[in-house]
Amino acid sequence: MNTSRRDFIKTLAAGSTASVLSMLNPIETVFHKKLDGKFNGGMLPTKADYSLDKNVTYLNHGSIGTIPKIVQQAHREYLSLCESNPWFYMWSGEWDEPIQKVRQKTADFLNADIDEISFPHNTTEIYNLLALGLPLQSSDEVLFCNLNHAGASIPFHIHSKKKGYNVKVFDIPTADLTSVTKQEILELYDQNINRNTKLIVIPHIDNTFGVRQPVKEIVALARSKGVEYISIDTAQTMGMLPIDVKDLDIDVIGTSAHKWIQAPKGISIAYFSKRIQAELDPMWVTWGQEDWKDSARKFEDYGTRNLPEVLTLGHSIDFQSRIDPNTKHQYLRELWSHAKKLTEENPKTIWRSPSDWQLSGSLFVVEIKDTKTSELAKSLFKKHGFVFRPFDAHSTIRISPNLFNTVEELDELFSLIV
Ligand SMILES: Cc1ncc(COP(=O)(O)O)c(C=O)c1O
Repeated sequence: MNTSRRDFIKTLAAGSTASVLSMLNPIETVFHKKLDGKFNGGMLPTKADYSLDKNVTYLNHGSIGTIPKIVQQAHREYLSLCESNPWFYMWSGEWDEPIQKVRQKTADFLNADIDEISFPHNTTEIYNLLALGLPLQSSDEVLFCNLNHAGASIPFHIHSKKKGYNVKVFDIPTADLTSVTKQEILELYDQNINRNTKLIVIPHIDNTFGVRQPVKEIVALARSKGVEYISIDTAQTMGMLPIDVKDLDIDVIGTSAHKWIQAPKGISIAYFSKRIQAELDPMWVTWGQEDWKDSARKFEDYGTRNLPEVLTLGHSIDFQSRIDPNTKHQYLRELWSHAKKLTEENPKTIWRSPSDWQLSGSLFVVEIKDTKTSELAKSLFKKHGFVFRPFDAHSTIRISPNLFNTVEELDELFSLIV
């Protein structure tokens, strides 16, 4: 063994905190980097805050978000640091404090406690965890509606077969959602909850019709009927709408932070109420189980982790937290109203999402008459750089704008649909 290698090992064996901390200082430096006081455009982020191709008009945040430049920079710096000495990835004790700070920021963002937050990969992981880990008996039923995403449905369909519980799916009719009311949605839940209903999964805003479900009222109804566990899938809302777990009185949140939180792909956020933590078995287990038995951290017991992404999530939360929620809400609503007006004026298009903003959001669908919408999407991308999500099955396109999109972009899109 040569001298430098021997010295290195000796240093580690001696647990030389001073030298390790000096190696970690750059990590703390990136972690504490302050974001600029202002976005390029003033109160709200603009396209200049992102690195989108100038020829692309991106209207598909419902599929996948884009990371602000300043967050990308932090991500790159963490990655470079870790790759400058891969030992950083393994020095889990030293990383613990920064990760806990990310956890605290995330908890504050959702009005949760720090021990109620875990960092999974995405929404699908959380519904696999529930489908496998809840103590459900053969008479118990898991309930959700037809608008529930595959990632929050298939885990129950598959795992229930082996575990022996039942899954019930009820229909929210989609033929004409424009006039749907809160009361009608509540009545459907009321009709379908029964004394065997143990878990309800509610898509906060679904990905195909963009119905914003009245979660607070559904939860109150379900609790009054004795439902034990309630989860909301916020893949399409966390980062779009404010979420307060205490106010909503839910047990579990699954989300995909790569969409509206604009975090790196492969890192996400989950919330578990203290009550459900005690009853839910982790999906995978390793050395952290004893240390973290009283915390949602037990649900992220992965062994070696993607630390640059976990830490970068903190910067994504910082970025989102700088945006005034009222200004954000007002702007997204303005885009929504404008798109609705354009749809109503265009003889080729029909609005297919709820017409009431309180039951809709910055993800809405428009039917394009007599059109294979996947072909339309391809052609508008190739010729004009528009990105949105087509659904051939419904002849619809899904438009999901974020704060850097503009009414002019919507004007141009609708002028091309003829
Ligand atoms: C409402 C909803 N739930 C769940 C998912 C699944 O997300 P992921 O693939 O990130 O797990 C999506 C993805 O689009 C979604 O829109």
